[in-house]
Amino acid sequence: MTEAKKPKDTPAEPVVSVRRIHRRDLNRVWEFLKLVFRDVNRETVEYQRPRSKKRFLEVYEEEGVEQLLFLVGEGKEETVVGYAECAFEISGTDNWMNERYFDKRDMRPLFVEELAVHPDMQGRGIGNFMLEQLDHLAKLRGCTHLVLEVAENNESALHFYRARSFFKLDAAIFLAKKIATAAELLPPRRLKKKKAPAAAEEGKVAARSAKADAKKPPAKRPVAKTPAPKKAAPKPKGTAE
Ligand SMILES: CC(C)(COP(=O)(O)OP(=O)(O)OC[C@H]1O[C@@H](n2cnc3c(N)ncnc32)[C@H](O)[C@@H]1OP(=O)(O)O)[C@@H](O)C(=O)NCCC(=O)NCCS
Repeated sequence: MTEAKKPKDTPAEPVVSVRRIHRRDLNRVWEFLKLVFRDVNRETVEYQRPRSKKRFLEVYEEEGVEQLLFLVGEGKEETVVGYAECAFEISGTDNWMNERYFDKRDMRPLFVEELAVHPDMQGRGIGNFMLEQLDHLAKLRGCTHLVLEVAENNESALHFYRARSFFKLDAAIFLAKKIATAAELLPPRRLKKKKAPAAAEEGKVAARSAKADAKKPPAKRPVAKTPAPKKAAPKPKGTAE
């Protein structure tokens, strides 16, 4: 049987590979995460982690956390196209997971803390490869479930997980109620009408004549017909009223 020949000028699709993160990768991976989650974080009540670079750098120092990079190209051409982070234990002070929930149900979860694919590379099977990798790690370490958190309105991600057999655990739903109150700041106010130009001119004329009056020598005082009362003599000190 002859092998089907590929057209010569069709470039081969890139290969994606996985390795553990190194310290030297931290800055560019942080930039990568900001880019991937920029749009997602605009629409969700909770930040899709990591919340800050500081926290991200702390995670690198933590025991029991796996940080995996998915890369296309080699050497200087190497580009991060995916990042996955998972932990074998509930970690970090910003984690509200209740360990007993899983103990009671004989679940030994692998917690998937992050799953992120570069926006330009989504829909090409990288996410699927990442999940397979995490599934593989979970099996090797004796875990029974992959557990993760996703915002309900992150519909594309939710669709991705549901299509890969993820089911909903008991989880918080964010509720809100509008409080009916008066506004703290006063409503808009209409401004006073500006004086008409004619009226303003009248005002100027009046001001001018007042000035001229002020310059004129003072008119002689009319002589008072009735003499001014004499000043009362000062009372002697110490006398009672
Ligand atoms: C969700 C995510 C990890 C999936 O990775 P991916 O590489 O795009 O997924 P794949 O190519 O392996 O699989 C494609 C599937 O993902 C879904 N999908 C999710 N986002 C997609 C996108 N932007 N483009 C294309 N497909 C997307 C498709 O519906 C498709 O489903 P199907 O296989 O049933 O047809 C990735 O889209 C992503 O990083 N999203 C932004 C960050 C995020 O929301 N992460 C999850 C937070 S918990």
